[in-house]
Order: sequence, then C-alpha cells, then structure tokens
Amino acid sequence: MCAVNRDEAILRELNLYPLWVKRAAAPAVAEPAVVAPQAPVAEVALLRVVQPVPVVEPRVSRDESCADLGWAELKARVQNCSACALRAGCKQTVFGVGDEKADWLFVGEGPGAEEDERGEPFVGQAGQLLDNMLMAIKLKRGRAVYIANVVKCRPPGNRTPAAEEIKQCLSYLQRQIQLLQPRVIVALGKTAATALLGADATLGSLRGKVHDYCGTPLIITYHPAYLLRTPADKAQAWQDLRLAVATMQDLS
Ligand code: URA
Repeated sequence: MCAVNRDEAILRELNLYPLWVKRAAAPAVAEPAVVAPQAPVAEVALLRVVQPVPVVEPRVSRDESCADLGWAELKARVQNCSACALRAGCKQTVFGVGDEKADWLFVGEGPGAEEDERGEPFVGQAGQLLDNMLMAIKLKRGRAVYIANVVKCRPPGNRTPAAEEIKQCLSYLQRQIQLLQPRVIVALGKTAATALLGADATLGSLRGKVHDYCGTPLIITYHPAYLLRTPADKAQAWQDLRLAVATMQDLS
C-alpha cells in the first residue's frame, strides 16, 4: 500500500477521514473548521498554537521515597506497594510498557479489567484505539513509545481513581518520567492531565496548548475510552496528535 493510501486507511479506522482541509496558514484560533478534505493527510499543514501558552505550574515531585530507584527497583517497589486500598482489589499491578529510552510517553488513568488480567496498560478496546492513534502519527507501541498510567492498580469497576489514590501512586509515575526522560508527554484524559499538572481544570480548557511538565512539553488529549463513546471528538484528538508531532519536530 502506498503511503497516502495507508494514511487514508488509518484515518478511516479512526473515523477521521474524510474530515480535513489543507490550511494555508496558522489559525488565529485553536479550533479549526472541519470540512471535507482537499488534500491527503501528508499535505495537511500542522495545527499550531499561535496564542501565548498559559503558564501552568509544573508539578514537582515532593515524594522523594523512590527518587533514587532505577527501573528494576522501581518495578519491584510498585509490585510490592500497598499504599492504598486499590492493591487489595486488583489481580496485579500494571507498571507500564515500552521502550525505556522512549522519546514519547503516553499516560492514561489506570488499568481496566483486561489490563489487570494481563499486566500491561491499554490492551483492551481503548488500547486498540490508542494503538491506532499511535499508528496515525507513525508510532508503534514499544518502539520509541512508553505507555504508563497514573495509578498502577485497577480501581474497582473501572471508576476514576480517588484523589488520595492518585496521591499515593503519583511518585511512581514521576520517577518513571525521570528515568525515561521523554521528549514529549501526551496525557490521555483529564485524570492524567490534572495529575501531571497538579491543577484541576476541564479537559476542554487544557487541550490545544503545549503545557510544561518539569521542562518536558505536555500535550493533553481525550482518553481513548472517551473517544470510543464519543467518536465525533476523534477529529479533535487528531488535532491534538498533530500538535504533539509538531512539538516533537520543533525540538529537533
Ligand atoms: N484506560 C487507562 O487509562 N489505562 C489503561 O491501561 C487502560 C484503560
């Protein structure tokens, strides 16, 4: 399959095609009109943020308890963790997966039933969509990509983790980020976004901007599980992914 056909196939899979129009210049506002495409995806100009990025205070780890741990020790620490009640209700901890020198880090909320079963993040339906989202920007799980969650144990019934559970678990993610030193972080959904930013806000107000996580650019987009329920918002997720790609390219 040629590159353009493959791009179209991926975008069809994401329900994003045909949706895009070639943009002549950077938009004055973050939300573009969505109309029928005039050009294949390769020619579509990247959506750029032109308004000043609001300063959001990065969350700096105050928990030094795992600050010196290497990957192996950190994995063991997570495996043996019982700092909150989640561990008692799940089958196993789900540490994270991928290239430990990855340029890209994608952060979700917490394991669901299948992830709890298999011990790997995003392996259920939402994970399939995440894999397609990665493919759409020419990335692949495990290759220059690391995938982790805010909490490492499945919350019962897949509920949103409580603030206290996030607080207990966050230093693990913070240490993963320190070890990984990704070039760009993508937060999937509000829980990941607000945990990393250390500030509450709506997802809508956080999208479309490049935030800063302790010196690393942080892009915020919808959680794949939300996109499965609300496919109309996949087009906006595609904008976020393109912003992430543009941000990575700007670093090179
Ligand atoms: N949802 C998440 O946030 N993380 C997973 O690993 C799976 C589903």
